[in-house]
Order: sequence, then C-alpha cells, then structure tokens
Amino acid sequence: MIFAANWKMHLAPDEARSYAHRFLDGFSPRAGSHYWFFPPAVSLEATALAFRGLPEIRVGAQDVYWEPKGAFTGATSVPLAAGAGAAIALVGHSERRHVFGETDLDTARKVRALLAGSMTPLLCVGEKLEERESGATEAVVLRQVGAVADGLDPAALDQIVIAYEPVWAIGTGKNATPQDAAAVHRTIRRDLRSRGAKSPRILYGGSVNLANADTLLAEEEINGVLVGGASLDPDGWRRLIELGSRK
Ligand code: 13P
Repeated sequence: MIFAANWKMHLAPDEARSYAHRFLDGFSPRAGSHYWFFPPAVSLEATALAFRGLPEIRVGAQDVYWEPKGAFTGATSVPLAAGAGAAIALVGHSERRHVFGETDLDTARKVRALLAGSMTPLLCVGEKLEERESGATEAVVLRQVGAVADGLDPAALDQIVIAYEPVWAIGTGKNATPQDAAAVHRTIRRDLRSRGAKSPRILYGGSVNLANADTLLAEEEINGVLVGGASLDPDGWRRLIELGSRK
C-alpha cells in the first residue's frame, strides 16, 4: 500500500523539519507499505534529510521540467530534484493541468525525462465535473494515460505509478464512492495490462480523510491514496495511515 502526501504550496523548510519530527514520533512502518511525501521544491532537501535512513519513506517533487538544464526560469529539472533528495515526482497533477495549463504532451515529456533519470513518475489523471456528468470519465482518463503510455515498453510502464484524482473531488470535500473509484481504477488497469504492464499500481486521490480512507483502501483495486489537505497535520496523517493500514 502507498500513502502519498502532497503538501502542495505549504510547509517551508523549517516547518517541513518540524512536521517530519512530529510525524516520526509514534510512526511504525508496515511491511510492504510505502510512505511518500511531496513537499514544495524549496523544502525538498530539508524533508529528505529529516526522513533520511528510513527506506520505506521517500520524498518526491510536485513537478519537474523535461529539460535537464538551461535557461528555464522557475523550473526544476529531474537532476536538480534528484540532487535535493527526490526519488519520485508527480506529473500532470490536476492543478498543473487546470491552473497552469499543462497539456497531455507536457506530461508525456515529463514522464520520459523522469524514466531517463531513474526517478519514479506518479502520473495523475482525472476528469472534470462536466466530463463525469456527460459520461466522458473513461475516455478522459484513458486519453490522459494513453498520451503518456503510447510508445513506452512494458518495463517502462511498470515503473510508472498512476493516481486517479477526479478534479471535482480535489479539495472540495466530495469524493468518489469507493465503488466508483474502483471502477475507474479497473478501466485504467485493464488498459495498462493490454499494453503489457505486469503490475499496475493505482492510487486514489480527492478529499481523502480520516473518515473515508479505510473504506476506499478496502477496495482491492485501490493500491494507496494521494492526499492533500488531510496530510498537512502530521498527527492526523499518521492516524490516517494507521487506520488505512488495517486491511
Ligand atoms: P485533497 O486531498 O486536498 O482533496 O487534494 C487531493 C490532491 O490533489 C492530492 O494530490
């Protein structure tokens, strides 16, 4: 099971250090579970150092640019993120797509750059409310997955982790029912298997909290959660992990 915390634009380096110390106080990892933290870029190194020596915890970037270096003001390349301690990176998060205008082609380039740099891509996909209401959910997520997966060999596909995050569920307090989420996961898994992937890993995200994490994680199709708001308090996040691990 994967528990991924996306801190978004929160927690400066000193706050990230305090968070890590507080989180680790009373934290006991479970065999086979993985705990991923995505701090803002400026806090990557502080977070990686605060969690160092704990193999089940990995730190990741919230975004990367596909070029390795150069005149790209404000961007973080894969080697820069790796140098700050990142082992993973989010790609195509809903806020990158819908606030910053990132396209399917951008996400495909970023995933290729991550694979070339031996970093795990956590590819986020998900439909908007009007797309769900018009019955386009499957088509949208398969288009988003396909834009990245087309042309990749099965070994590369197995390096990628997917997060299904319906846009209408992010930060809204509304979340997909476990059955609805599982149905979309099944669709994505079938698509990846048909491309030769052996063991697709698919997380759910969107208003996951202490009250709903265990029922979502009880679904066989859901291999973990990607959480924003409810991951910002270290005690609450540790409790959510404990609750969600009871399966
Ligand atoms: P919330 O958990 O705050 O809805 O955010 C979900 C998300 O976007 C995680 O990447």
